[in-house]
Parts: sequence; C-alpha cells; structure tokens
Amino acid sequence: MARAGDLSPEEFREAAARVAEWVADYRDRVEEFPVLARVSPGETAAMLPSSAPEDAEPLEAILDDLDRIILPGLTHWNHPGFLAYFASSSSAAGILAEFVVATLGVNAMLWRTSPAATELEARVIVWFRELLGLPEAFEGVILDTASTSSFTALLAAREAAGVDSRELGLTGRSDVPRLVVYVSNQAHSSLEKAAIAAGLGRQSLRRIETDDRYALDGQALERQLRSDLEAGALPTMVCATIGTTSSNAVDPVARIADICAEAGVWLHVDAAYAGPAAMLPEKRELFGGWDRADSIVVNPHKWMATPMDCSVLLFRDRRPFRASLALTPEYLSSDQEGALDLMDVGLALGRRFRSLKLWFLFRQMGAAGLRALLRRHLRLAADFADEMRRDSRFELAAPVPFGTICFRAHPREAANEGGRVSNELEAYNDWNRELMARVNRRGPVFLSHTVLDGRYTLRLAIGSVHTEARHVEAAYRILCEEHDEMAGAGGSAIGEERMTTV
Ligand SMILES: Cc1ncc(COP(=O)(O)O)c(C=O)c1O
Repeated sequence: MARAGDLSPEEFREAAARVAEWVADYRDRVEEFPVLARVSPGETAAMLPSSAPEDAEPLEAILDDLDRIILPGLTHWNHPGFLAYFASSSSAAGILAEFVVATLGVNAMLWRTSPAATELEARVIVWFRELLGLPEAFEGVILDTASTSSFTALLAAREAAGVDSRELGLTGRSDVPRLVVYVSNQAHSSLEKAAIAAGLGRQSLRRIETDDRYALDGQALERQLRSDLEAGALPTMVCATIGTTSSNAVDPVARIADICAEAGVWLHVDAAYAGPAAMLPEKRELFGGWDRADSIVVNPHKWMATPMDCSVLLFRDRRPFRASLALTPEYLSSDQEGALDLMDVGLALGRRFRSLKLWFLFRQMGAAGLRALLRRHLRLAADFADEMRRDSRFELAAPVPFGTICFRAHPREAANEGGRVSNELEAYNDWNRELMARVNRRGPVFLSHTVLDGRYTLRLAIGSVHTEARHVEAAYRILCEEHDEMAGAGGSAIGEERMTTV
C-alpha cells in the first residue's frame, strides 16, 4: 500500500478514513491516559530512530508508533481533567476545520493569493466583534498567539508614539527618549518579551502595583506616568489585562482608558483568556471600558474550543499597524486597487487559513452553543469555589470572576485548629506544593500553581470543551484524599503512582 511519493486518490480516501477513525477513537479513550505525561527527559527521543526512514512506510506503522511512542509521552491537553494552564481544547468543529485548512493549504498573505481567505478573515472578525459587544470601529487580523498579537500592537504603539523607528530604528540616536510600557505586576510575561523584542528593553517595562484583588492600581499608574514624564521618558503603551494568568484579575480598564486618553498613550487590552466571556451579557460589566482601547487581543485557542493556534488582534486604526510593518517587495506588488493584503499587519508574510476554524466553530456550535459552553464552565468554577469556601481544609485565594479558581489548603496543624493559618509561611507553601504534586501524580486531573503575595497557590482552570462536572468533582475528591493522607492517615508516600478513574 505504501509507495514512494504521495498517496493515490484511492489510497488517500482510505488513509483519511483511517485517520478519522484514529481521531474519533482518541477522543473516546483520552480519559484512559494520565493527563500529565509520565516520561522523563529523553525517554521519547530514545524511542525514535536517529535518521529519517529511507523507504516509505505504511500508515498503520505510523499510527502504531503514534500509539506506542508519542501518546505516552504527551501531556493530554484534550483530556477533560486538564485543569492546569488555560485550556486549549479541540472542538469537533476545530478539528474538522484544521483538516480542511491543511487540505487547502492556502497562504493568505495577499488578497490575490487567496481572496476568499482574506475576506472570510475580515468577516469572521466582524462576527466575533459583534458577539463580544465591541463597536464597529474595531477591525482586526488573526495571528498565531497572544504573544505575537501583543508584540504587533506594541510595534504599532511605538510607531504611533512618533519616533519613526520604522525608518531610523532606535539605536545610534540621541534624540529618542526612553519608550515606556506599563502593565500590572500580574501581567503576562508576553508583554515583557514584547518590550524586549521591540527594542525597548526590560527596564522600560513598569510593573504597576496591584490592589487586594490583584487588579492594577490606577493611582499608582498615574503616579508612575507622571514621574516618567518628568524624567523625560515617552509613555508608549499601557496594557490592561482582563483575566490575568495567575488569578483572573480584572484591571480597571475604564479608569485606565481615562488615564491613557489624558496622557495620549496607546491602550492595549490583554483579554487573551477571558475575552470570550464578553459574549455573555451577565459578564459584560467586567469588560467596561475595553471598547475604548486602541487594540485588544482575544485568543479563541484558549477559552473558545479552537485548536492551537488562533489569536484575534482587534484594533481601531489600521494605519499605525501598516506604518510599523507594511512592506511590499517588487515580486509581491500588484495593482489590485482597494484590496486588503493581510501581510501588511504583522511580521509574518505567510499565514495559515485560521479564519476557517472560526467559521466552522461559529457555524457548527452557533453563538448560543458557545455561550452555553462558557456558562457551563462558569457554573463549574462557581461550584468548585463554593466547595473551597465551605470546606475548612481549604481557602479561596482570589476572587473568581471567570473559570479559574485560586485556592490553598491548610496544613494539618492549621486544619486541626479549625482551618486557621498558624504556620510559618514556608511550611504552608511546602504543604501546598506537595499536595499539588500528589494530585498531579494520581493521573485523572492536572492542576497548576501560582504565587500570590508570596504564597504558593493552587490553580484550577476550567475551559476545555471536554470538561464536565464529574471531572471537577474528581479534582475536589482527589485533593481531599491527598490532603487527608498528608494530614496523617498514613497511606501512600509521595511519588507513588496511582491511577483512579473519574
Ligand atoms: C493573559 C494572557 N495573555 C497572554 C498569554 C500568552 O498567550 P499565547 O500562548 O497565545 O502567546 C497568556 C497565556 O496563557 C495569558 O494568560
């Protein structure tokens, strides 16, 4: 069956059906795997041949090795017990669309190289923008990740700041003040990377302090802006986050928008994770003021059941984006009047047909289906948060505006005293660190951690299209079991692996 070169049409039909079978089967049996990979570094590599095969191999051999070598070496992001980082899960619509994307293999760099892909991208962004409740003034593009989207926004903001870095660069000049970017001390590291990559440097990133809800403190931002202006710096961008990575904190965007308007500074909103929740009227107030941003990033590949990668960058004015990066070499020039060339917004020339994933998703799930998915997650998160409030062995560590719950367990001594914290901070942190390690070793669920106010904090993030109540309940049960074992009931030592079914 295998032959040198590509498959014949008949062979392809057969192979595609076989792979579809494998995919459907994987979706059925993914819960049989531990969420978190149990391999050690180098273990997978040791099972792989050191050179590429000289002769073609049959599909069955490849699929066998997929099962034998690759699957055991994966952390299963599509496992319903994946509750660690923000989920990136694959809805059926997303999987099917990816298959078509690869089949078409178009590159929508210019309108001419794929008119329908260019125009579909613009249209699904209009759909998305409307669902999010943003004004018509916003248009956008689909990029790979939020890191790229925020970096692209910073390049536009840098251009809008008027230092003409496009022509003159930033080096070897004495006429360029320090360009400064403002984020909260809870902002995602991608903003720091963006400052590095844009040539501003880490020292140009101001990490503004946050309040007791981990939201940016507006007064502190104003103070910092004033002091930078007095020192001759050029405030270039403020990034407000709606749904921080650590604790889902919501920066006061409306207040920040006022500050930006007064100071004439670009406002970028990082709603990479929480953005889809703006589709819910009952969550809209958390997004107050984001409609005044210059740019916004929302990742459908996080909380919107779209397989990696898909990040929507929305903006009000295309001009600074074009001014920062648009460049047309002769071989790509055309006389197509009025056509939109997507390569003009962003660093990459070639681009995947990502809009097809959103088109399939919006049509196969419908806006109602997407809202139902978000509401299911929010309900599960609220229920888990209630357990944390009720159970004296645990405490909530932050408010729960979206699908992520930050919590801590009380060490044994404290639990015996009715749940009050009486331990040294270090013992407290060690206890929670060990608890998380034990839970993750069990297999059915995978949690992550953060540090809030210097305290080790567990994080349970609900956002996968596959996660249901029983998976979150299992996480709670396993947490309780491990906590009680640690508290002295004896039982398995840390490091012992047990697999329980959900
Ligand atoms: C708030 C926030 N912004 C940005 C990012 C970076 O996302 P990406 O992996 O798409 O670059 C993350 C990742 O989790 C995030 O939580």
